[in-house]
Amino acid sequence: MLRALLVLAVLGSARIGLVNSHKESGEWSCDSDSDIRVEAEFRPGVVTLDGHANEWKDIDGFEFSLLPALDPHAEHEYKSGKMSVKALHDGNDVFFMLQVDGDYAYTEGDNKKCPSVALMFQIGENASYHDMGGCTEAPATCTSKTCHGHEVDIMHFSIGNAIPGRLYGGNPVDNRDGNGGDRFGHLVDLYSWNPHCRYLDGMSPSGNDTSAQNNWKGAWWHSSFTIHSGFVEEDRPYALNGQKGTYYFEFSRPLRTMDRLQQDAQFTIGESSKMSIAFWYPVDGNPWHGSGHYSVSCDWVPLDISLGGSLLTKGAPSSSWDAASAFALLFSVVSFCASVFVGYRVSQNKSVPFTPMNNL
Ligand SMILES: *[C@@H]1O[C@H](CO)[C@@H](O)[C@H](O)[C@H]1NC(C)=O
Ligand SMILES: *[C@@H]1O[C@H](CO)[C@@H](O)[C@H](O)[C@H]1NC(C)=O
Repeated sequence: MLRALLVLAVLGSARIGLVNSHKESGEWSCDSDSDIRVEAEFRPGVVTLDGHANEWKDIDGFEFSLLPALDPHAEHEYKSGKMSVKALHDGNDVFFMLQVDGDYAYTEGDNKKCPSVALMFQIGENASYHDMGGCTEAPATCTSKTCHGHEVDIMHFSIGNAIPGRLYGGNPVDNRDGNGGDRFGHLVDLYSWNPHCRYLDGMSPSGNDTSAQNNWKGAWWHSSFTIHSGFVEEDRPYALNGQKGTYYFEFSRPLRTMDRLQQDAQFTIGESSKMSIAFWYPVDGNPWHGSGHYSVSCDWVPLDISLGGSLLTKGAPSSSWDAASAFALLFSVVSFCASVFVGYRVSQNKSVPFTPMNNL
């Protein structure tokens, strides 16, 4: 028992990644722990995309300190706690659950006075975490050609107009326009080459392509909410500001999308991708600004999309199979003997009268 606990403790501490990094006189440097990663196991039929975390309780979480993305010093860490990141896939879609403690902060219609989260994934092989792809072109000159290889995929959810527990993201109205927007809840699908060259999927400085889609869906929740039957907009602000609790952000996206423009990351079962997570919080009620976000690491975090095989190869041990088949054989012999006996008795008992159906 003690040994099992010890093993669990060691595993637990290995899952909590430490990130040491600093920014020296304009030179970016990052010394991230190479052990940190997020694993998306094959667990079909476990989670419902509703912002609630209870179905995720048996899925391992990965804990990250949240440090300012542009100046990652430990003393400026997000004070209310670490972010727990869970992921899984069902063979078609990948799911993410982000949990972070935070007093309830919600200002109707003002995204910057509400918490906000973003996921970022590498698309181009030369896309760096730092500077969101790291293309060195200025906004006037960045194009899919000049920044080739520096594409990153971004999902950003701002909740100022999003009702908790309701689904936002890709919807028929915006997808008909062929871009990554979401006019209802602002859960948008973007791509970028650097922080100044960042666009909704399908839009670019050199023209719009109407073949793009918003492939993300997601919902949010806060543990201080007491109503579970379904909020509507009139219930805003849904709870009293300042209440202690945990924010939940749940997302899903198909592993593959129909992107033809190099604006979506494509996930492959059994392979690893590179991701990062950003978090904005209105500290002391002050609106946040775009670059004032926390990040889970100062470099890409590997995201492993695990093979589903481990579930299929887990057969019952052979000894119990033997016991089961022996029992089945015994059972069939007994029932065979019983049927022979019944047949014998029926054939002996000549006096059983035949009753035609129409006499009943
Ligand atoms: C990435 O950079 C390397 C080295 O500069 C280059 O050879 C390669 O073509 C680049 N890849 C892309 C997709 O641009
Ligand atoms: C692309 O679409 C946006 C939004 O509809 C519009 O503002 C922009 O002018 C369009 N760009 C081009 C080059 O047509």
